[in-house]
Amino acid sequence: MFSNKLFSSICNDRKKHPERLNATLERIEEVLIIVLENNAKDVIAECAKGIDNKRAYIDEQHGARIATVIEKHCTVHQVRMIADMLMDSEISSAEAVDIHETYKIPVSRLEKDIIPVRGESAWLLDNNGKAFLDMDSNYSATNLGMSNDEIALGLYNQAIQLISMKEDRVHIPRTRFLKSIHQMMPEGLTNFYWQNSGGEAVDKALKIAKAYTGNKGVVAFKGGFHGRTHGAVAVTYNPKYREPFFLDKEDWVHFVEFNDADAVEEIFKAGKAKTVILELVQGEEAGNRPADKAFAKKLREVCDKYDALMIVDEIQSGFGRTAQKEGDWFSCMLYDIVPDIMTIGKSFGGGYPTTAIVTTSKIGDSMVPGYDGSTFGGNPMAMVAAMLATRQMREKNITGNVIERSKQFSKGMDALKKKYSFIGEIRITGLMIAFELPSAEKVEEFQNVMRDNGVKVSLSTGNFVRYLPPLIMTESDTEFLLAAMDKTLAAIG
Ligand SMILES: Cc1ncc(COP(=O)(O)O)c(C=O)c1O
Repeated sequence: MFSNKLFSSICNDRKKHPERLNATLERIEEVLIIVLENNAKDVIAECAKGIDNKRAYIDEQHGARIATVIEKHCTVHQVRMIADMLMDSEISSAEAVDIHETYKIPVSRLEKDIIPVRGESAWLLDNNGKAFLDMDSNYSATNLGMSNDEIALGLYNQAIQLISMKEDRVHIPRTRFLKSIHQMMPEGLTNFYWQNSGGEAVDKALKIAKAYTGNKGVVAFKGGFHGRTHGAVAVTYNPKYREPFFLDKEDWVHFVEFNDADAVEEIFKAGKAKTVILELVQGEEAGNRPADKAFAKKLREVCDKYDALMIVDEIQSGFGRTAQKEGDWFSCMLYDIVPDIMTIGKSFGGGYPTTAIVTTSKIGDSMVPGYDGSTFGGNPMAMVAAMLATRQMREKNITGNVIERSKQFSKGMDALKKKYSFIGEIRITGLMIAFELPSAEKVEEFQNVMRDNGVKVSLSTGNFVRYLPPLIMTESDTEFLLAAMDKTLAAIG
């Protein structure tokens, strides 16, 4: 007689797991090869009897037979491993890749090397049961880790009570969020408007700025990145992102060199713009490059002089990633400046998609009813996630951990640089990290060998490797990372 756990990992118990499907023979084969290695062949042949299509859902009759076969040939420990792996994914890696390649519009390069199925603290487990230390945090969206019991419970409770409510109606989860968030925001940035993605938040921040200033012009910086919606792409420098969509032709956007406040002043002076948008640590496109302190100060002064608005995009840098002292929740706090408008996102909902524009009540009031709206912006689920994620950030003293881990990493990185002279420039702002290798090819080689050494590193900019690890990473995680880097750099050197 087979165990219920094994059987329901093959023929899904929909009452317990409505999100799963029945397993396929192809996935069972994959799992058996991982668990039984050389002894898998005969078991696979016995399991496969009478099944023609390896990717079809296994029915109850075959499921019961397969469970009996597996129990006959495997130890209790092996049966448990097989059931756990099937519970994590009932679909084979090959089928998952095929389905993505066939049906997903290829807007980005598909990453197929790791198929993550589970996350615990700073670690990920893939479809093959292999663990990886995560250096990406899903572009800094999962700063609290890739799973979260409290947020899961909060979302479940909210979903069975009131799953959605439009932006323009009063609701309680949003009220709870607004009662608890102000302590984290830069002084004076009190008023919120919520969106679902970073690109949307940037778009809407630009609309607010235009409504307030009465000027359509916006200054943006070379090396900046603000997302992929029309407005966000228009203010993102890389011509590769703009040209195919004719967004290089927008007459309202003016690009200038990063760290050049005089160039911004020229444009303001000519009346061509009254808004500037920037990342204080340029991430994706420039390789985590921090702005000069003097530039940030001067830019604030220039904005004040011309009554122009400074939009700081904190979508990636926000919520403690760049902290230098406890309570540095946003990168503007390192520079002692307060933006007029701030965009936040990514880790704001602990991994659940929610973003926002935050500004002063005066600037916010330039948006009058009818100027904008959103079906999902600030919906109850998003507000539960944001309230819980931001509370956890405070309670777990995330900024304190960022400071400690950043110091630990800097020290380790200094030692590695002494040992491997081909490491070039190193950029460390909190846990927004990048370092230079001799070429983009070396970066790719580094990433591949790091994966073999148990670390997932998928972010890079040209010949810079970028790390955005979860902000909950521990001292021993950092030791593991540095040891893996040592091994990897020795292998590729
Ligand atoms: C600084 C910055 N702004 C905006 C975005 C866009 O966010 P999303 O991908 O959620 O639209 C990103 C995404 O990487 C970002 O790094």
